[in-house]
Amino acid sequence: MKDISELIDSIYTHGQRYGADRPLPANPIMTAPAGARPNSIAVEGGAFGDEGKGRVVDEVCALLVKGRGQGVVYRWNGGANAGHTVMVNDRRLALHQLPSGVLFSGATVVLGKGMVIHPGDVLAEIQEVLGVMGAVPAELMIDEMAVLALDTHRALEGAYRQWATGGRGSTGRGISPAYADVLYRHPVRVRDLAARNWKDRLSKHYDMYAALLSGLGADLESAQVARLNHEPIPVGSKFVFLDRLGAQRSVLLPYVAGVYDYLQEKWADPAIPFVFEGAQGVGLDPRFGVYPDVTSSDPTFSGILASTEGLIAPDEIAVRMATIKATYTSSVGSRRLPTAMDEPLAHRIREDAHEYGATTRRPRDIAYIDIPCLRFFARVSGATHLVLTHLDIAYPDTPIQICTQYVTGEGKATAYRPDQLALDRVTPQYVELPSWDGKVVEGVTTIEALPAEAQQYVAFISQALGVTPLFGTTGPQRDAIISWLPA
Ligand code: IMP
Repeated sequence: MKDISELIDSIYTHGQRYGADRPLPANPIMTAPAGARPNSIAVEGGAFGDEGKGRVVDEVCALLVKGRGQGVVYRWNGGANAGHTVMVNDRRLALHQLPSGVLFSGATVVLGKGMVIHPGDVLAEIQEVLGVMGAVPAELMIDEMAVLALDTHRALEGAYRQWATGGRGSTGRGISPAYADVLYRHPVRVRDLAARNWKDRLSKHYDMYAALLSGLGADLESAQVARLNHEPIPVGSKFVFLDRLGAQRSVLLPYVAGVYDYLQEKWADPAIPFVFEGAQGVGLDPRFGVYPDVTSSDPTFSGILASTEGLIAPDEIAVRMATIKATYTSSVGSRRLPTAMDEPLAHRIREDAHEYGATTRRPRDIAYIDIPCLRFFARVSGATHLVLTHLDIAYPDTPIQICTQYVTGEGKATAYRPDQLALDRVTPQYVELPSWDGKVVEGVTTIEALPAEAQQYVAFISQALGVTPLFGTTGPQRDAIISWLPA
């Protein structure tokens, strides 16, 4: 890893661009390194989620899937907590459980084993896609091994909030109880819902959750739970709960499948593009994120190995791309980031970049770019490439402030550690880098059209994180994107 002050000197004093000013000599997606499968790419959130992965996957699918009319888009983690926003014909489409690849005909989108599925919300989302697109363009497969995250889980999470401190920032979509069910060894999986005796299995599940809630002094039947695109409702009696699930089950059944054999066959044929779409970001990982305000799935590339039951290891994927916002970081939840930005700049960015949660509508916290933290995330997740979104969020009158290291109270340099209390004790040290006019960058589609300061910045951040730039976005429209891939 490069020393940050030497790096700044070599770029800003000596004009070194490290190739950020020109396309790559070869396409890393197709010319995979030894041992990796060509025609494969994985996209993860390199910070705290909401980096614009949906947009990027949309672009990658346009490149890999559209022309060939075939391809697998595989989502490996998370559930209804995620919010990918994609612009289609000037309409904002918020996807939550469906991968962004769902917008491409010829694609098969797989909701993998590592996900947690809320049947009612998936159906509401399918309705939304139908409303915007007129049809669901892709084939949809839901792995029968995926775990269900039901209204019961949402109710339990609500009850825990009265007792525990850890999950205060959660989206309330029942994510942690659903994943915890796996560790407790009593998950309800999609295959339980698909089974002939589904009512017996789900009935036992309801009874257990009723008992758990009652132990916490709450009531399952009257507990209010969120629903996508509708007002919250009470979970209801067991009869009502099963009745609602039964109606959803009959619509979802055609999409449910065992996906292992399918994946094995398609993965063996490198003519078929594979796009892996992660949800959330490394900063929300329970092992590497700002604990305790973390999610419960594995948002890093390593989650792919578990979700595919050992079939696909991350280092067999040709390109593993971490996505970050270029000039700032956003975070929604209760975590405290060391580089949190003060108003009014935070406000300006929040309004210009529409920084409100796609799932919960909460205003996002805005922070300065934090190299110790982002470097840690790139390293622990094994990222090889970088996507810089929001290159248009830059102001000519405001330098880009970057945290280059943390120091302790005694002035000693210290590292990022995945723990809120440790992070509360560090003091970030900053440098200011030259900015550019975001308005000039809006809609830019070539590297050469980027202002010199933006090119320098791309050289800086990619070298600082030890990854190669592959895409940058320059506005919310679908085609406002720069690619470092060769023509
Ligand atoms: P949970 O995933 O609902 O358990 O929430 C845990 C933490 O992750 C909370 O701080 C959420 O706000 C955050 N979170 C979960 N999903 C996303 C996402 O897609 N984008 C940003 N933050 C998220």
